[in-house]
Amino acid sequence: MNNIAELITKRRSVRTYDGRALDESTKEQLLSYANAIQNPFNLPVKFKFLDAKKDGLTCPVVSGTELYVGGKIENVPNASVAFGYSFEEFVLYAQSLGLGTVWLGGTMNRSAFEQAMDLGENEMMPCATPIGYAAKKMSIRETMMRKAIKSDERLPFEELFFDGSFDTPLAKEKAGEFAEPLEMVRLAPSAVNKQPWRVVVADHAAHFYLKRSKGFGHEGKLDMQMIDMGIALCHFALTAKENNLSIRFVQEDPKLMPNDGVEYIASYKIK
Ligand SMILES: Cc1cc2nc3c(=O)[nH]c(=O)nc-3n(C[C@H](O)[C@H](O)[C@H](O)COP(=O)(O)O)c2cc1C
Repeated sequence: MNNIAELITKRRSVRTYDGRALDESTKEQLLSYANAIQNPFNLPVKFKFLDAKKDGLTCPVVSGTELYVGGKIENVPNASVAFGYSFEEFVLYAQSLGLGTVWLGGTMNRSAFEQAMDLGENEMMPCATPIGYAAKKMSIRETMMRKAIKSDERLPFEELFFDGSFDTPLAKEKAGEFAEPLEMVRLAPSAVNKQPWRVVVADHAAHFYLKRSKGFGHEGKLDMQMIDMGIALCHFALTAKENNLSIRFVQEDPKLMPNDGVEYIASYKIK
């Protein structure tokens, strides 16, 4: 995949499709890419095409496509973050082929999706997406939904990213080689556009934290904001890689500021 920053900047959720079906070779291309995706947790995500009619899938906010892609993963520690990373790489790859997607975690008949995914005993299907070509015009329902959750907005750089500790906001101009990877984190999609990612840059490392939104704990094994964290890590890593930054993934809490309503997730260190 090339031009990651451009793909991320141009991506938006697509809920209104134009009805055109994908040809078989495009589907094969998607699946073969998907099955080779790796995440820094080394937890494989399995992707599967689903058919709304055949599998009885419904999603009231989506129109104009019957084709969906679901992902499943073994329910082990870090699974939600790992899922977010891998599934977002799939989303960006689909976009590079001119296809639209939207992360779906809630607004669907989940049990039908889970059944269609053939979940093993300890597997979960955190999210799925419809896939197809975006219609020229969004449905009224999609337009209203975007307005209601302010999907076109993001928090300012200085509210998401910090310099050395959570006490000092990081200005984009001062972020150096991290400026673009962090800007791509800022533009990431997140559940209900809550943007729960926070990053502290210290000693040539970017430390990722989760700041949970009110009312966004995890229901059972599903943890949408942990998935958001995986999406953020994916955007950071793919952009850094494209910019020839040599980074190393670690999970070593730098203990910058414990107990302040944020939870340490992982870091990328410059090698
Ligand atoms: C983990 C996750 C779950 C989501 N679940 C849903 C969903 O159930 N239904 C929906 O319509 N959009 C869902 N979204 C899409 C977000 O609402 C959307 O990404 C956000 O509003 C930002 O808009 P954008 O993707 O167009 O930039 C989800 C996004 C993420 C990352």
